Amino acid sequence: MVNFDNLGFDVTKVNNNFQAIHDGTSWGEGDLKSDDDITISAFSTCLHYAQEVFEGLKAYKTKDGNIQVFRIEENAKRFRDSCKRALIPEVPETLFIDAVKKTVLANKEFIPPRETNGTLYIRPYALGIGYNLGLKPAKKYMFGVLVTPVGSYFESGINPAPFMITDLDRAAPRGTGHVKMGANYAAGLMPNRIAHEHGYADCIYLDSETHTRIDEVGAANFFGITKDGRFVTPSSPSILPSITRRSLMKLAEDKLGMPAECVEIELDDLNHLAEAGACGTAAVITPISKIDFKDKTFQFYSDTEVGPTTKKLYDLLTGIQFGDIEDPYGWITVL
Ligand SMILES: Cc1ncc(COP(=O)(O)O)c(C=O)c1O
Repeated sequence: MVNFDNLGFDVTKVNNNFQAIHDGTSWGEGDLKSDDDITISAFSTCLHYAQEVFEGLKAYKTKDGNIQVFRIEENAKRFRDSCKRALIPEVPETLFIDAVKKTVLANKEFIPPRETNGTLYIRPYALGIGYNLGLKPAKKYMFGVLVTPVGSYFESGINPAPFMITDLDRAAPRGTGHVKMGANYAAGLMPNRIAHEHGYADCIYLDSETHTRIDEVGAANFFGITKDGRFVTPSSPSILPSITRRSLMKLAEDKLGMPAECVEIELDDLNHLAEAGACGTAAVITPISKIDFKDKTFQFYSDTEVGPTTKKLYDLLTGIQFGDIEDPYGWITVL
């Protein structure tokens, strides 16, 4: 029996993972492996030049014991776009979706039951492998899918958490911030460590061109609820196009009757927000209690309680994801 008590965001060993190889001509069919150790040449481009892309999505167990995934087609599309930017042969959406389904179903017993609020995190990835020395794309590639049961990404879960704005940059406007490449996250390790050392849940990046606007959180997008009742989230060329925030915008408009807009959010605009949060597959929705930046503090709804709109959005989003609420949008695929 798998123990789902106190699930955090760590790895639990499961039964199987999926691996496929591109030999320079086309992607192979791939298959399930019991061992998640992989053997690749130390000359691999993924190791030296970060020729690596990945995805993150989740499988949910419903009250009735069904297994479902959320907006998998969107992850498949984004993965394909990431491959294109990293000069990795594109993984066809059908291969991506079949591999995810196969891997989830091979690890059914690791999907936490509904009442735990836990999920099975799914991590597709693609790597440049083989023998390479100069700065050029690899001749061989690996596509894989890993899964592991998880709880909350931020320890606070749905409770508000403090964030700080970092003065380090993660991505540039014409760089790769809008692509899910491992390289972006390497740049984020140090600011994340500094935020933790100072008692914050994570850091928030400013746009790297002017350092006056909110970009995103280290592993999630940013959103706010303005005092006049709008859902706002940064418009920026250097942030990941989050599937969660797109879903929240739709829910805010359709279910809460709120205008939902991608806008440039200047630092001073934070004073006009009644509520703020981090959103993403891993973070789900994490309310932000306050944001510190140099000698300024921007305070939001409460240090201890979730704001009313954030709570409604959380209930709607997770309700659809876990199958408690009917999905009117075709976002759910039952496996
Ligand atoms: C940097 C970054 N921004 C935003 C997100 C949210 O994207 P999504 O909602 O598609 O998971 C993620 C991943 O969770 C991320 O790593």
